Amino acid sequence: MLLSVLSASLLAIPALALPLEGLTPATEANPLTKRQDCSNPSVQLSANSKLPDPFLLTSGQRITSKEQWTSCRRRELLSLLQQYESGDFPPKPSSVTGSFSGNQLTINVSDNGKSVSFSVSISTPSGSGPFPAIIAYGYPSIPIPNGVATITFNNDNLGAQNGLNSRGQGVFFNLYGNQHSASSITAWSWGVSRIIDALESTPGANIDPTRIGVTGCSRNGKGALFAGALDERVALTIPQESGSGGAACWRLSDEQQRRGQNVQTASQIITENTWFSTRFDQFGRGSVNNLPFDHHSLAALVAPRGLLVIENTSQEWLGNWSTYGCMRTAQEVYKSLGVPDNMGYSQVGHSDHCGFPSSQQPELTAFIQKFLLGNTSANTSVMKSDGNHNFDLNEWAGWSTPNLS
Ligand SMILES: *[C@@H]1O[C@H](CO)[C@@H](O)[C@H](O)[C@H]1NC(C)=O
Ligand SMILES: *[C@@H]1O[C@H](CO)[C@@H](O)[C@H](O)[C@H]1NC(C)=O
Ligand SMILES: *[C@@H]1O[C@H](CO)[C@@H](O)[C@H](O)[C@H]1NC(C)=O
Ligand SMILES: *[C@@H]1O[C@H](CO)[C@@H](O)[C@H](O)[C@H]1NC(C)=O
Ligand SMILES: *[C@@H]1O[C@H](CO)[C@@H](O)[C@H](O)[C@H]1NC(C)=O
Repeated sequence: MLLSVLSASLLAIPALALPLEGLTPATEANPLTKRQDCSNPSVQLSANSKLPDPFLLTSGQRITSKEQWTSCRRRELLSLLQQYESGDFPPKPSSVTGSFSGNQLTINVSDNGKSVSFSVSISTPSGSGPFPAIIAYGYPSIPIPNGVATITFNNDNLGAQNGLNSRGQGVFFNLYGNQHSASSITAWSWGVSRIIDALESTPGANIDPTRIGVTGCSRNGKGALFAGALDERVALTIPQESGSGGAACWRLSDEQQRRGQNVQTASQIITENTWFSTRFDQFGRGSVNNLPFDHHSLAALVAPRGLLVIENTSQEWLGNWSTYGCMRTAQEVYKSLGVPDNMGYSQVGHSDHCGFPSSQQPELTAFIQKFLLGNTSANTSVMKSDGNHNFDLNEWAGWSTPNLS
């Protein structure tokens, strides 16, 4: 029985579409050319137990410049993420309009001859705007400081997360059809993008769309990380206790399980909820080692923008070691881009689910100061954990970090 499931999943791996070209470095004699289609990479899935090299193009070349990260590797990763994990993230719809009344922003979206609408509530601080704002999935579980508006987003309304049977339900699927490949997390990210579209065209809401943060806790933390990865207009991403499926790496969570810990893994998560596309099922049933990326690369999609990852050291289920190692690895991409301090990791143990320990306040304040309130002198250099982690980057990465020109 197990064997037949495994072989079925192996058969589901797409055939090799393009030969891999070997590890030819991009040099002047062998430049990365614009004609390379970085938005539609083709890979042969093969087992790799290490965290895949975020700088290695599917063509086999390694990037050497920041420009290549932006124009090529980032686009490849976005495409691979959709192809194998999140499902398709539709391009901007043909029409998005906003109307603001009371404290409600109503967003009306039309595409392919259909239209849907949803609303978010906005609470603005005193003083005169336009204000920066934090979009909170569900409710804000971090303290939002003075000077920053709160946009409360009922993400479940866009894509249900009520067990596997709720797949394909919600406003997103009313527009794109209940067979669409997008996961609920992808539907929520799409909702964030439409909120920003509407804010751009609705000055009456008094929000500055260039200073938007996104946050959420636990399952909604997984969602917040994806929203920041998928839309470059998000200035600050704050996933809180997102764990496995968010700031943890699938490979590292599996390793925690091998060490006898009770941790959420890919094979568990595909049976629990709608957070990932059915395209991801093969990695849960087969092996996460076949995934051509891991969540260090998901976090890297946020770079060079602000990213503060908040975790709970006591949370074995969400991958306390896995998130630490995964985000430590992601930080290498921020380093290569010359902005190591634009990403922070803060892990403090506590027993209050989705609570916010005051010992994490300084880094939260610093990130909001720098990325939403324009204080360039705020100190966002933080990579801290009160756990006694032993994570060997060389063992798990096995690639070096380039100094991108
Ligand atoms: C949304 O826009 C469409 C197309 O312009 C329109 O037909 C529909 O009535 C609008 N819906 C709402 C709720 O405003
Ligand atoms: C992870 O959490 C478990 C359960 O609270 C704990 O026993 C373990 O020490 C934690 N791991 C680290 C590295 O802190
Ligand atoms: C932190 O982890 C502990 C141990 O698993 C748990 O009791 C607590 O609810 C967690 N806190 C959060 C915010 O998840
Ligand atoms: C900006 O950040 C610095 C460093 O944290 C802090 O000392 C200063 O008070 C902040 N400025 C404002 C206007 O909040
Ligand atoms: C920023 O904070 C880190 C961590 O607390 C500290 O090591 C570093 O010295 C600080 N940098 C500045 C410029 O204050």
